[in-house]
Amino acid sequence: MHTALCIAALAGLAYSAPQLINLDEIAADFPAPVLVKAPVNVVSNIPAPSTPVDIVPLQSSSAKKRELKVAKRDGDCSPYPTGSGPVPTPDTPAAFQSDPDFANDANNAPTPYGYASTFTNLGASLQASNYMGLYTLTEYDTLGCASQCDQASGCVAFNMYVERDPSLNANAVSCPNPPSTTNYKCTLWGAPVSSDEATNTGQYQDSFEIVIAGSNAYNKNSPPPAVSGYDGPQELGGAINAPTSSGSYMGYQFYPFSQSQGYDPQTCADACNAQTTYDSENPAADGSYMSCIFFNAYVLSENGIPQGLYCSMYNETWAASYGNNYGQYRTESDGTVDRYTVSDSYSYSLSS
Ligand SMILES: *[C@@H]1O[C@H](CO)[C@@H](O)[C@H](O)[C@H]1NC(C)=O
Repeated sequence: MHTALCIAALAGLAYSAPQLINLDEIAADFPAPVLVKAPVNVVSNIPAPSTPVDIVPLQSSSAKKRELKVAKRDGDCSPYPTGSGPVPTPDTPAAFQSDPDFANDANNAPTPYGYASTFTNLGASLQASNYMGLYTLTEYDTLGCASQCDQASGCVAFNMYVERDPSLNANAVSCPNPPSTTNYKCTLWGAPVSSDEATNTGQYQDSFEIVIAGSNAYNKNSPPPAVSGYDGPQELGGAINAPTSSGSYMGYQFYPFSQSQGYDPQTCADACNAQTTYDSENPAADGSYMSCIFFNAYVLSENGIPQGLYCSMYNETWAASYGNNYGQYRTESDGTVDRYTVSDSYSYSLSS
């Protein structure tokens, strides 16, 4: 009723303001939004694009009943995979929700370069549209979850959270409220998310209460700008890893953020053009030289801290499927292990 009144009022305005969004025509056709939350009791769940998963239309009371029935379905007391997180003492929903370790994980998690924090340390996971899949991780890992989002074409947001899950497939008679196991979950989303969508506070499986803690979400930033003389940007899941046998790799330039203005793909284009100029002035004995016609710009981070802009250069173009170097761990001379991650990776190719 309320909505109909608003639309009628806007429709009246439309006569004097023709550029107003034509709600009169399009709002009538809005389907009820289909909100989806990640399924529980699966380690990973990457739906085919056309397969909706665990659809819960919140508005309809009949749907709510259906959801309850699904949640109440009895299991066979078989074990679920053990999660990687600690189980709080006592093993209760309240202790889980107020566990300081989970709050610290969430509050101290690095915001991956190329993403903006949307919310931090909520007690609910996302229930939104454009669900793209779920990964169970071995630690609270915003960098790893961001990398999964980067690797999934169309992913523009992710949710990292801790979930109290049953250790057994609960059964009303034999195991109605089994001990819990703690899972670190990472869900991917194909539309930007907001804290208003952090509404999935959990559910029951028989007498076991699934609850959420330390829920953080991040939206991916817009791609970098176009560069004159080049086609792109082409979004990549990681850094380009061209076959060594192609001989196509021409080297790289690294621009530390401590010394430069940040991520500007023009910086890489300038390096690519300069390399071609240098090579043409210093050809091989037979007069041949390599021309830079393709570059990959990305940010290299060490232990979550962005270090600088990395530009790798090639004499051939490489498809996005070659952008599969997601980072690595390295043992430093003092024995500490550092984690290097790749983010905001895009390629550009010289326009023909
Ligand atoms: C790129 O350079 C390699 C090594 O010199 C060469 O074998 C290859 O043909 C070059 N590719 C193009 C497209 O020029």
